[in-house]
Amino acid sequence: MKIFKYLIAFSLTLIQCAKKLPEPIQPSIIPIPEFQNTKEGTFILSNKTQLSSDTDLSVVQTYFDDFLKTNLNINTTSDENTSSIHFSIDSKIQNDEAYHLSINKNKIEIKSKTAKGAFYGVQTLLQLLPPKNEANEIAIQCIEIKDKPQFSYRGMHLDVARHMFPVSFIKKYIDVIASLKMNTFHWHLTEDQGWRIEIKKYPKLQEIAAYRDETLIGHYNDQPQQFDGKKYGGYYTQEEIKEIVAYASKRFVTIIPEIEMPGHSQAAIAAYPELGCTKDTVKVATKWGMYDEVYCPTETTFTFLEGVIDEVITLFPSKYIHIGGDEAPKTKWKNSTFCQQLIKENNLKDEHELQSYFISRMEKYINSKGKQIIGWDEILEGGLAPNATVMSWRGTKGAIEAAKQKHPVILTPTSHCYFDYYQSENENEPIAIGGFLPLEKVYTFNPIPPELTKEEQQYVLGAQGNIWTEYMKTPEKVAYMAFPRAIALAEVVWSKNELKNYDNFKKRLIHFQKRLDAKQIKYANDLNEVSGEFNGTTYSLHSSSEIKNIRYTLDGSTPNYASKLYTQPISISKNTILNAANFDEEKQISSLFTTTINLHKGVGKTITLNTDPHSSYNAGGKNALINGISGSNKRYGDKEWLGFSGKDVKITIDLDDTTTINAIKLRFHNGNGQWIYAPKKIKFDFFLNDSIITTSDFITINNRDSLLCNVHTKFQNINASKIDIDIPNFGIIPEGNQGAGYKAWTFIDEIIID
Ligand code: ACM
Repeated sequence: MKIFKYLIAFSLTLIQCAKKLPEPIQPSIIPIPEFQNTKEGTFILSNKTQLSSDTDLSVVQTYFDDFLKTNLNINTTSDENTSSIHFSIDSKIQNDEAYHLSINKNKIEIKSKTAKGAFYGVQTLLQLLPPKNEANEIAIQCIEIKDKPQFSYRGMHLDVARHMFPVSFIKKYIDVIASLKMNTFHWHLTEDQGWRIEIKKYPKLQEIAAYRDETLIGHYNDQPQQFDGKKYGGYYTQEEIKEIVAYASKRFVTIIPEIEMPGHSQAAIAAYPELGCTKDTVKVATKWGMYDEVYCPTETTFTFLEGVIDEVITLFPSKYIHIGGDEAPKTKWKNSTFCQQLIKENNLKDEHELQSYFISRMEKYINSKGKQIIGWDEILEGGLAPNATVMSWRGTKGAIEAAKQKHPVILTPTSHCYFDYYQSENENEPIAIGGFLPLEKVYTFNPIPPELTKEEQQYVLGAQGNIWTEYMKTPEKVAYMAFPRAIALAEVVWSKNELKNYDNFKKRLIHFQKRLDAKQIKYANDLNEVSGEFNGTTYSLHSSSEIKNIRYTLDGSTPNYASKLYTQPISISKNTILNAANFDEEKQISSLFTTTINLHKGVGKTITLNTDPHSSYNAGGKNALINGISGSNKRYGDKEWLGFSGKDVKITIDLDDTTTINAIKLRFHNGNGQWIYAPKKIKFDFFLNDSIITTSDFITINNRDSLLCNVHTKFQNINASKIDIDIPNFGIIPEGNQGAGYKAWTFIDEIIID
């Protein structure tokens, strides 16, 4: 009997000994480190692991220790130990943010020059641990990593004015930013639609400016516009702001507050009408866009803004204060006797120089408090304030101009950094402002504009992803829009360009997303979605997913797990509706991909354009206009629509052989709220063997009331080998509309030749 008991006890011990630890996580670190070399063996992290650090690094040790306790069920020790992790200062390391992480069988060493570097060493180490853990021990792969960032400014922005989010979410957002080794959170706190920072000196900012009567429902371009009739608003108290700043600081994230001026200020003017030029009572804005109501450059305004800045700088230790400066219409200033007098007295040329006067004056005040300003690239217009840093958003032109003037620049061009744009071509993608910015495009971004010399390149501090929240009501929607694109941007700003590889990034992203799953952060499903391309004869389908079973139909029916499996490009010889989706066995893991192929007479021919589309709206390139695929009916930013900013467009289609033409069908977008206008007129010239045979007069386009403007022109059996199409830009946007005074955009879809 005794022997039997012994045997049971013995075999239990054996079972316990034999219970193997899970395999160590293989390195899939994002952003990819500068140098990494996997070694033999594993380090065992357990309650018997001892943590220690040089004095200056104890904050990082504490952060790491707390993380292990809270998230991974590991309570380290300070004495008895079987393994150790030590943080040490290494003065030979040059870069403040660099670290060396050395994982050996019994010892992990994290060396850095500063606590910030050690923190990034910890972030890498955490990516070598599982996202969740129930066991007592974790095996970590032995490895040697030496790492440092390429850019000193690595940022994410968040607009909390259009919609506001709880403190707990702001912290979560900062957590993810920090885990991606990003170091800046640009907090956009004031807008036409709401003022979100408590300023004790001006209580009406809390009572009036923080609330709007109602909010636009649906898209700005929807006609008629509709509103929800519900009061919306709130603000962050100074106590909450202090709490968030302290939280970010523990994660080595600097928060740059943005207080917009002189534009996007209608909420403040609603609270204090004396800040505007007409002193008229206005309401906090209830829909999106730009407003004529801007601060008037009076002493009253400067006293107000200085009072605001005084409180802002006590809350934010950041060296920078962002003063906005973007999208400030000059109408009110043009019509104001006071402004015109001020322009004269100060020998200013125009209202742009008056804006420069405004910004320079605020810069002087902010500099006197030991802080620097950042402004959107409009602050270049009328002359740059002497010490300003420029955030280039309207492409990279602002960055180039500012760097050439020896001013620091941060790149946030709409083309690669606006995460409020759509990210997939799926028709069912949740509503967004417009545009099209897929993950891969973010990943391919290089923040250094090629136009800059080596000397000028040093003014590029880095880049930032922007999250404007007009169409993001909830934290879930913010997360969906931010991730995974912010993850791609993190690698853009941290890692060496030559180490970047999109296919490899996607593999690592699968692992990083498991970390977001553990934090219950719901990101966009970019990896599993289906996309496709038509080359005129065959249609290719793609998905980046790990499990890839794309199934499709060609008869307009919805695919299911029993539909035909995609194995090679699909031959298309007639007009077809192609539907596809990605499946994991029976479960559909992507949304439905659908495309209509129209094999008209222009498909696969040669197209030339007199001018390039804007880089933000050129995803499909010029061939998109004659590839047989029409763009979305709902939006203009997919790879089938091309967008031209303010330019007259001339399109030449070379048909190779003589072709009989009976009709040409074009489609223009007319989303006036987004500055997009269908042209007023259009003209067709037909050529046969390079001689002009028929020319139409300019045809007036009349049906300009709806969002999509169809132009169907009939011809009588014209035999031509080449067609020229002239599409003059609409021209200057009239007063009273979004973008008034600027040239309109032209958006063109498929040109169908029948
Ligand atoms: C901006 O997007 N208006 C800076």
